[in-house]
Amino acid sequence: DKGEFRHYMMKEIYEQPKVIAACLEGRISESKVLTSCFGADSGFLKEVENVHIVACGTSYHAGLVAKYWLEDLAGVPCSVEVASEYRYRKVAVPKNTLFLTLSQSGETADTLAALRMAKTLAYLTTLAICNVPSSTLVRESALTLLTNAGAEIGVASTKAFTTQLTALLITSVAIAVENGLSAEKEKALVQAMRSLPSYVNAALQEDAHIKKIADRFANKHHALFLGRGAMFPIALEGSLKLKEISYIHAEAYPAGELKHGPLALVDENMPIITMVPHNDMLDKLKSNLQEVAARGGELYVFADKDTELNNEKNITFTEVPKVERILEPIVHTIPLQLLSYHVAVVKGTDVDQPRNLAKSVTVE
Ligand code: F6R
Repeated sequence: DKGEFRHYMMKEIYEQPKVIAACLEGRISESKVLTSCFGADSGFLKEVENVHIVACGTSYHAGLVAKYWLEDLAGVPCSVEVASEYRYRKVAVPKNTLFLTLSQSGETADTLAALRMAKTLAYLTTLAICNVPSSTLVRESALTLLTNAGAEIGVASTKAFTTQLTALLITSVAIAVENGLSAEKEKALVQAMRSLPSYVNAALQEDAHIKKIADRFANKHHALFLGRGAMFPIALEGSLKLKEISYIHAEAYPAGELKHGPLALVDENMPIITMVPHNDMLDKLKSNLQEVAARGGELYVFADKDTELNNEKNITFTEVPKVERILEPIVHTIPLQLLSYHVAVVKGTDVDQPRNLAKSVTVE
């Protein structure tokens, strides 16, 4: 039932404050991550010295964000790979490596094959972050953390992605605590996480503004998404969302790579969508924006007001709530979901069932 919404995708975008709260429920206290959420065998957390994350599509993008969290908070090396590559190569497994899969459906053929291969290798254990409790992935993994997002009907993944990120943040903090994160820092992180549902709700308030911007994309054939740090995987996810439902060719680059090639694409017909975090990368990113502006590129910036980018001419500004640095990738996802949704509606595509795509990719 789509309720008041025209499409499942929009209904699912709007469910995010609620399902992120459901994902946090019972997994954090006022000051701690509750390791009991990993089941009776949470002892593995102490032993993790490495993490291999394997997934496909949007779930892979969630994994890319987790690499930043794990290495930053826990100092634990993490590699992230798409399942269709991982499963066909010889993988070197360092001592005490956690094998972590991410999947909305738990039925993606390549991800399942990767898990089956991993079980023959010398991993510490296998953990699945998954949305479907009865899925094959959950059944075949040693440990599971459910995302609790409820059924996702729209083919373009939205609430499954932000709850995967939430579950990955819980996991990253749990591993960090075992690697010497102070109780004080844990408490600050957990309290920030408790604000996530209201931050996401605040981000949704820009819907009407984003709908207006979307009109300007209808006649575009290409778009470029830029981000730095953990915002780079969010740029990848924003570009995937735009491609899959509006059929506009989009690419994502780490902003620092611009002058190594893609800058050649920039002219007045190229919209550039940039996620600006409010952290120590801000000045670097501002100079990347100037490079683009100098070439006539149309700049769409998603940032908080304290960045003062709302006052720049030549920039179409969308406000994103100012949040703790660790939460920025989750909160910045929301406006990009809304943008791709509204562009698709303007273009008249089949938003919930884009051409050539299936909700669950059970064949390789
Ligand atoms: C894109 C999308 C896909 C899936 C991918 C993996 O919006 O939904 O890229 O993320 O097919 O699916 P799961 O997460 O079910 O393994």
